Amino acid sequence: MSKKKVMSILLTAGLALSVQGAYAQAPKNAPNSNAASAFDNKIIKKINADNMYNTIALLSEQPRAAGTDGELKGANYIKSQFEKYGYETELQPFKFYEAVRNNASGILEVGGQNLKPYVVSGSYSDEVTAEMIHVGKALAGTVPNTVKGKIALIERGDIAFVEKIQNVLEKGAVGVIFYNNSGTSNAFGQADYGQNIPVVSITRAQGLELAEQLKAGSKTAYLKVAGSGMEEKTSYNVIAKMKPHKNKDTGQVVMIGAHHDSVPGGPGANDDASGVSAVLELARVMANMPIDTELRFVTFGAEEKGLLGSYHYAGTLSDQEADRIVGHFQMDMIGSKDAGGDNKANGLIMYTIDGKKNLVTDLASAAGSRTALGESVPYGQLGRSDHQPFHELGIPAALFIHSPLEPWYHTPADTIDKIDKNKLQETAEIIGASVYQIARPDTPALEHSRVAPKPVDYDFENRPPGA
Ligand code: BES
Ligand code: ZN
Repeated sequence: MSKKKVMSILLTAGLALSVQGAYAQAPKNAPNSNAASAFDNKIIKKINADNMYNTIALLSEQPRAAGTDGELKGANYIKSQFEKYGYETELQPFKFYEAVRNNASGILEVGGQNLKPYVVSGSYSDEVTAEMIHVGKALAGTVPNTVKGKIALIERGDIAFVEKIQNVLEKGAVGVIFYNNSGTSNAFGQADYGQNIPVVSITRAQGLELAEQLKAGSKTAYLKVAGSGMEEKTSYNVIAKMKPHKNKDTGQVVMIGAHHDSVPGGPGANDDASGVSAVLELARVMANMPIDTELRFVTFGAEEKGLLGSYHYAGTLSDQEADRIVGHFQMDMIGSKDAGGDNKANGLIMYTIDGKKNLVTDLASAAGSRTALGESVPYGQLGRSDHQPFHELGIPAALFIHSPLEPWYHTPADTIDKIDKNKLQETAEIIGASVYQIARPDTPALEHSRVAPKPVDYDFENRPPGA
């Protein structure tokens, strides 16, 4: 089911999530805080940071970029571990499309002169000779029908490149020339799978010059792109489920996730073999615990390509299945020695998409005080990981990460020697204690209903440096 469809069938009104008494944070030294610790201990005493460290060492032996053999090898290893612990396990494949360049070359010849354009990432390889037409920024509803059969000259800005291409393609354009909206660079732009026309970019000065010439009369261009296109690839989610005993089942599900893919060429020890290692360790520890709520552990693929695995997974959930999920705990970059600075809680922070607290952050903040960390965990607002699609389904979700980030983020230096066992232990204890609080049989089912969240826009192309 598409994301849009899922959203459209979400309840638009309903009870806000309510947390029952059993989950409220007990003041320190309150009579039941010993009881809470006793329950925590059933989980946290079994968590072993050496296991997590060894998992990271193994996974980070090679990059795991989505769609590569490295990813599949990692995913199969994760699956085999879940199976070893007794989980019902599935490798869920999904396709995605990626720009490929192979000695890419572009020609844009106008009046006998080659403007030496840049080949836009993912551009289709083809050649056309046609008149050019200036269509401004190609915003929806502004493109004239006369673009049909012509090469569209488009200014950068306001909307995504792929939308601009789509807006002129739908009206029959046979090629696209983007020109920059500032500076002197011509190297920008992106095309999507299925946009089967050549797309190049040129500098602002070149674009304005062409626009001037077009004011004076019609002009024909020869546009050629070679060695560029989109390739279909397969990535995987690894899903492990543990159902509660039949005669004690709340019918609810709690999810614990991380992403197993890395950036190309990066070993991704902290990003995000660290999260995967905690997912596997918690799966191991919880495998034989009494539970009345289904545990669902997922490691997502293609997070680094735009949260593709988690969106795919969320899109496969029926409305009824999504209703059963009471929370999603996402761990992404939870073990760097060099992250967190002097911040509170060793830099551990929980991010929600809307910046508001929810069931996940409430439980985890309280668990922080009761476990190895010894203090409550702060929260803030950020997307950029697999908690996003769950939030969009109206499911309480949060990302656990250390902030500020380490300097090795997304570099080949994101290696095992930068991992701190203590940070792994602290974070896994917090998630373990929180999840067990939901899943252990003596706590009541959560009163919970999904509410479609307000959209939060995050502009990846124009985000500030470091954000
Ligand atoms: N682990 C990062 C997410 C992250 C980085 C969260 C810094 C918070 C602070 C994640 O793997 C990542 O790099 N995500 C991408 C976004 C994605 C939609 C391509 C990013 O932030 O560039
Ligand atoms: Zn990550």
